[in-house]
Amino acid sequence: MGVPLSGKTIVLGVTGSIAAFKAPHIVTRLVASGANVVVAMTANATRFIAPLTFETLSGNQVIVEMFPETKRGVRPVEEAVSGGERLRHIHLAEAADLAIIAPASANIIGKMATGVADDFLSTELMAMTCPVIVAPAMNVHMMESDAVTANVETLRARGVVIVEAETGRLASGAVGKGRLADTDAIVDLALEMLAPPQDLEGRSIVVTAGPTREALDPVRFIGNRSSGRMGYALAERAMARGATVTLVSGPTSLETPDGVTFIRVETTLEMRDAVMDAARDADLLVMAAAPADYAPVDASVEKIKKSAETLTVALERTPDILTTFAGTKRQGQGVVGFALETSDELAEGRKKLESKGLDLVVVNNPRDVGAGFDVETNVATIITRSGKELAPGLVTKVDLADIILSTTVDELGWESSDGA
Ligand code: CTP
Repeated sequence: MGVPLSGKTIVLGVTGSIAAFKAPHIVTRLVASGANVVVAMTANATRFIAPLTFETLSGNQVIVEMFPETKRGVRPVEEAVSGGERLRHIHLAEAADLAIIAPASANIIGKMATGVADDFLSTELMAMTCPVIVAPAMNVHMMESDAVTANVETLRARGVVIVEAETGRLASGAVGKGRLADTDAIVDLALEMLAPPQDLEGRSIVVTAGPTREALDPVRFIGNRSSGRMGYALAERAMARGATVTLVSGPTSLETPDGVTFIRVETTLEMRDAVMDAARDADLLVMAAAPADYAPVDASVEKIKKSAETLTVALERTPDILTTFAGTKRQGQGVVGFALETSDELAEGRKKLESKGLDLVVVNNPRDVGAGFDVETNVATIITRSGKELAPGLVTKVDLADIILSTTVDELGWESSDGA
């Protein structure tokens, strides 16, 4: 199985309790599971443990203040969660798939229950719509006080998942209820809540991503603006759902996802060859790449010198990879294609579904707000061979990847059969 939390953003809220020293273990395990972890600390928490510890473990800037300064060498929240240049607390709240407050002090529990937003973490929590786990840790008398008991019940009634504090010896020397629950149990709960279904277990999937480049001369090429993000998200999520994934990628600036078989290509011809080879025995081909449709007839061996006022370059069609694959594909192999259209999207998408022999086509228009090349979000309509149409609206590319994979599993009838 791949990394189960890849593509997931988790906000870990750390508040003022001696148990804050246990929180780094939560970060380590979540990061190892593939999650993007953003730690938000209260000012009191920083008296118990340094933000630097969490920054080092998460690789992301830790947020304490409403308006912190970005430090050198750590990834600012604006990058950790793309779009974060907008109102940070709102954006992070929207991007989060889960919040965990561990340890949760009596103070943050009280603020959450009564609607106080007077620092970054409490404001953030109020703006969140994702599931929230609260793991209290405090002195036994505080834990058992009427106020905390009532506040915890209020949170529970609102759907907050409470991981009960344990009974044992507390920092004060007293014995009673108030110790932070086992941090492994907290992480296991997070995994249970976020881990995807293993519905692609046993399946082998080839995903293509990014642009291709066709050389004009040794230093210049014809390319396009594809960033590869959609294809990389598909590869990551397919792995998280149990598939064996080969990622055939044109040049991109993205990090290779852990665990994929990675084939780097440059031209459309190279991509075709890699796909025909890798997809021969695969269960599914997902062509998210934007291969160049035309290449120069003769790339110049020498650098083209500047001379005449105009320069004409003869281009020839490159092979269509999907059509080539459709010609050789076996019964039962699934094919997903994309259709990038700037007008009449749905009609054009349906045409491509037919002409390229697809089971499913993902149609999008780069001109739609939130869609397009170098952004983390996309707006698309999914059309299936059996005639279903799905328009999930503006979603992250990671979420769209999951929707595409679920629709594919459905369309191919895979949920009822074991992986090949
Ligand atoms: N595709 C392909 N081989 C190519 C070009 C595109 O397999 N040489 C695939 C893409 O990966 C995508 C689908 O075909 O899944 C549609 O790509 P798109 O650029 O929208 O369409 P084209 O077929 O190139 O047609 P047009 O540019 O005329 O719309």
